[in-house]
Amino acid sequence: MHARRNKFFSKLSSAFLRKWWFVIAFSLCLIILGILVTFGFTTIVNLVIDHQVALRPGGQSFGWWAKPPVTPQVKVYVYNVTNADEFLNNGSKPIVEEIGPYVYKETWEKVNIVENPNGTLSFNQKKVYIFNEEESVGMEDDIVIVPNIPMLSATSQSKHAARFLRLAMASIMDILKIKPFVEVSVGQLLWGYEDPLLKLAKDVVPKEQKLPYDEFGLFYGKNSTSADRVTVFTGVEDITQYGVIDKYNGRSHMTAWMTEECNRITGGSDGSIFPPHITKDTTIFVYEKDLCRLLPLNFEKEVTGRGGIPGFRFTPKPSVFASVEKNPDNMCFCPSGPPCAPHGMFNVSVCQYDSPVLLSFPHFYLGDDSLRLAVDGISPPEKDKHQFFMDIQPLMGTTLRARARVQINLAVSQVQDIKQVANFPDIIFPILWFEEGVDGLPDEVVNLMRIATTVPDKARTALMIALFTLGILLFIVSVTCLVRKSHRQNTLHLDGTNYLATQHIDQQKKKAKMDSGNKSM
Ligand SMILES: *[C@@H]1O[C@H](CO)[C@@H](O)[C@H](O)[C@H]1NC(C)=O
Ligand SMILES: *[C@@H]1O[C@H](CO)[C@@H](O)[C@H](O)[C@H]1NC(C)=O
Ligand SMILES: *[C@@H]1O[C@H](CO)[C@@H](O)[C@H](O)[C@H]1NC(C)=O
Ligand SMILES: *[C@@H]1O[C@H](CO)[C@@H](O)[C@H](O)[C@H]1NC(C)=O
Ligand SMILES: *[C@@H]1O[C@H](CO)[C@@H](O)[C@H](O)[C@H]1NC(C)=O
Repeated sequence: MHARRNKFFSKLSSAFLRKWWFVIAFSLCLIILGILVTFGFTTIVNLVIDHQVALRPGGQSFGWWAKPPVTPQVKVYVYNVTNADEFLNNGSKPIVEEIGPYVYKETWEKVNIVENPNGTLSFNQKKVYIFNEEESVGMEDDIVIVPNIPMLSATSQSKHAARFLRLAMASIMDILKIKPFVEVSVGQLLWGYEDPLLKLAKDVVPKEQKLPYDEFGLFYGKNSTSADRVTVFTGVEDITQYGVIDKYNGRSHMTAWMTEECNRITGGSDGSIFPPHITKDTTIFVYEKDLCRLLPLNFEKEVTGRGGIPGFRFTPKPSVFASVEKNPDNMCFCPSGPPCAPHGMFNVSVCQYDSPVLLSFPHFYLGDDSLRLAVDGISPPEKDKHQFFMDIQPLMGTTLRARARVQINLAVSQVQDIKQVANFPDIIFPILWFEEGVDGLPDEVVNLMRIATTVPDKARTALMIALFTLGILLFIVSVTCLVRKSHRQNTLHLDGTNYLATQHIDQQKKKAKMDSGNKSM
């Protein structure tokens, strides 16, 4: 019996059958590979993406990060006050006319990049703004009439000071002929003009408390290399920290607000790149110094970017600038309140040398309607035009398109003893709003991204189908053949086996005979 089975297997392993065993093994390998592809391919692709996007000096991703291949544009819309005299002398409601856009093309570059040993990079952000005449509504030297921010800041701040100080202030302003509204060009309003009050402050105020400049402009000093030193994680060691701020001027937190969480800077992004593998539940954070806080953005909807690249639209929650009554979490941003900022406003006074500057979205989007109706001439907000959003490629964390829209407002307080502003009521006066926009990435990046986002999925499906089909087909064919062949061979050799078996028995009989013969001897 034992010998027979041995023979059977020796036949199976004969050259011809061995081939079929090999085919079966091969088909099983294909099926196993198919299973591995089904469950492991995405993981492998993600590992490759993580490796590729991480910021390694000399790498492609690093180059794009250091000198983004995009042409961002800033569009500025100024609220030109058309009834300044009536407003001041007759108590009329202020009337503004929104004029814009005044367009500037930007170039971004990170300079003085230093690689730190702990997986971070430190750099200074350089931005250059070039006026784009063709796309602008007018010239940079168009004259507009806007509230005198340095003056109104000074008067509003003196509200609780001693009366004689206010009177002194009034006479100084009289001498210097400072008025509550200024006539300046758009270029001056943005990039700076010499302000008599700031100049005076520079001359009289002790060195330590001095404002850093004697010019006033809402974008003053921005057309240059920022002095702020930013340290971000490269993502080489931990991809979930990719592009995320570690330190800002050596600090991980601000000191302006009341809780650690609200003061946090660490974890923000400059808005160009985010840690990859973003889901619809991810909250991403953007940090911009003038915003004076991390701005949380949440998923709103799926969008399709240029070249058919899928993206997620992230936008601030409606509650982000909500009043503390509607969103108690915002209490931490109200160190001197209550009363705190009205609904839809964010008080950045602590980050603006105590000027009463409040930020909102353009046209007071998501804010209280009464704010908009306090002045005439501002149309109701429209989501398309005034929403703040970023479209992000979720797999790679790259920003495809962005519209960072912010409005700058001045909270003026009525101060009785300063005659120039005695008729200036308590009001939140809109000054201008701007949109920093990033549109299409260049074709080279788009193509790469399309490959990275669509090809792996298609490849995975194709591979799965190919492997399973081929594997199963081969398996069935080879098993069928094997069963048939071995069956045929079995019957073919059955006689032979019998013959061998009988021979074996004969031999045993002979041996037995001999043994018995020996015994009898
Ligand atoms: C702004 O308003 C003033 C006063 O009405 C007007 O003289 C000026 O031309 C306006 N500026 C622009 C750019 O329209
Ligand atoms: C001031 O208001 C009065 C009454 O409302 C109006 O008749 C007058 O024309 C206004 N004066 C100016 C300079 O607007
Ligand atoms: C990494 O190193 C930089 C430069 O030495 C330092 O400023 C930063 O705080 C360090 N960050 C961490 C997380 O250790
Ligand atoms: C910004 O600076 C560049 C030179 O660095 C200059 O050519 C450009 O006109 C400046 N832009 C503005 C808006 O001042
Ligand atoms: C803004 O904040 C400053 C400083 O905390 C505070 O003095 C001021 O009253 C606030 N303004 C408004 C309108 O809430």
